[in-house]
Amino acid sequence: MQNDIQEVLISEEEIQSKIKELAAQLSVKYEGKNPLVICVLKGAFIFMADLVKAITVPLELDFMAVSSYGVSTKSSGVVKIIKDLDASVEGRDVLIVEDIIDSGLTLTHLIELLKNRNANSVCVVTLFDKPARRTVNLEADYTGFTLPDAFVVGYGLDYAEHYRNLPYIGILKPEIYTS
Ligand code: XMP
Ligand code: MG
Repeated sequence: MQNDIQEVLISEEEIQSKIKELAAQLSVKYEGKNPLVICVLKGAFIFMADLVKAITVPLELDFMAVSSYGVSTKSSGVVKIIKDLDASVEGRDVLIVEDIIDSGLTLTHLIELLKNRNANSVCVVTLFDKPARRTVNLEADYTGFTLPDAFVVGYGLDYAEHYRNLPYIGILKPEIYTS
């Protein structure tokens, strides 16, 4: 275990086995549809890679970067598009791949945006969910794990850009935030 991690919340094995389950469900859902799978950068990049490898139907990928956090651990409520999609979503069946839903503000904004751009359907898969922190009424269509209200790192998730490469998710030692 990495030295800065106080506790592993979900192991690499648990994450990988959950992703296989989600991918199997999504492969059935998108049979014959050629979905446009959108990765919300940066946090979802590892989940996206593992998920699409396990989805068995033809699909296309695109990437989008939005920010709501900066280096703090709390949402500012402001969602800014840092990098927009390359592809048009008009008439497409869109699958948004998120790392974690917290307040729900980021996703609410994204779903609205893609609907306004006339996507045929918009569906959300998130690996992690912290429902206790929701400020808007929003549920993902597919959720991997429900988490307690704690700031987590690893498997794509960062604290000040560190720890994204950990293959599991965990909680940082408190002194890391304060030092
Ligand atoms: P909202 O509040 O808009 O936030 O649902 C979603 C985005 O916030 C980030 N986030 C986290 N990042 N550990 C992180 O490293 C966390 O515990 C955490 N909670 C939320 C994340 O980027 C997500 O897309
Ligand atoms: Mg972050």
